[in-house]
Amino acid sequence: MPAIAAENITTVQNLMAAFEGESNAHAKYTAFAVKADADGLHGAASLFRAAARAEQIHAGNHARVIKQLGGEATCTIHAVEVKTTLENLKTALGGEQYEINTMYPGFLAEATERGNRAAIRTFHGALEAEKTHARLYGEAVALLQAGKKDSWLGTVREFYVCPVCGYTSETEEEHERCPVCNCPWEKFEIIR
Ligand SMILES: [Fe+2]
Ligand SMILES: [Fe+2]
Repeated sequence: MPAIAAENITTVQNLMAAFEGESNAHAKYTAFAVKADADGLHGAASLFRAAARAEQIHAGNHARVIKQLGGEATCTIHAVEVKTTLENLKTALGGEQYEINTMYPGFLAEATERGNRAAIRTFHGALEAEKTHARLYGEAVALLQAGKKDSWLGTVREFYVCPVCGYTSETEEEHERCPVCNCPWEKFEIIR
């Protein structure tokens, strides 16, 4: 196995932290989807499943770059604390906000300083996709707090997930191509 070059050690550590975060987000959202279905909030469950798929795509992208840099992606999956769906949505929103405001900007700055294009690409794709998750989780929290269980929260619905960067949309054919990574829209995965 090739050793990790000294100048890439911090970038690889950051990729590993992001891989761990995304892998745990996938586990969390998958468990939250089961709880949302049990609560009759099937639209919220659809959102959790779509975001879980996107986080899995991010983890896979990060793992690929770790391998390119001579490392191996490993992490610990923690036990998931499942609460009410409103609390789960708030936990999910908080996690996305941390990634958007703190984690990914820091990692992107480091990768940019190093000129590591593969790391920049995977961090940038994830950061932009997390913004779509934060928007959708924020909308779900607001609706549920207002007691609007008869909104889209109550019914299974479709979300469209970019298979390359995880960009997530509730609108069919929003653009011809993914606005983040340019992947053609017809390749998007439909998650219910
Ligand atoms: Fe996310
Ligand atoms: Fe994309």
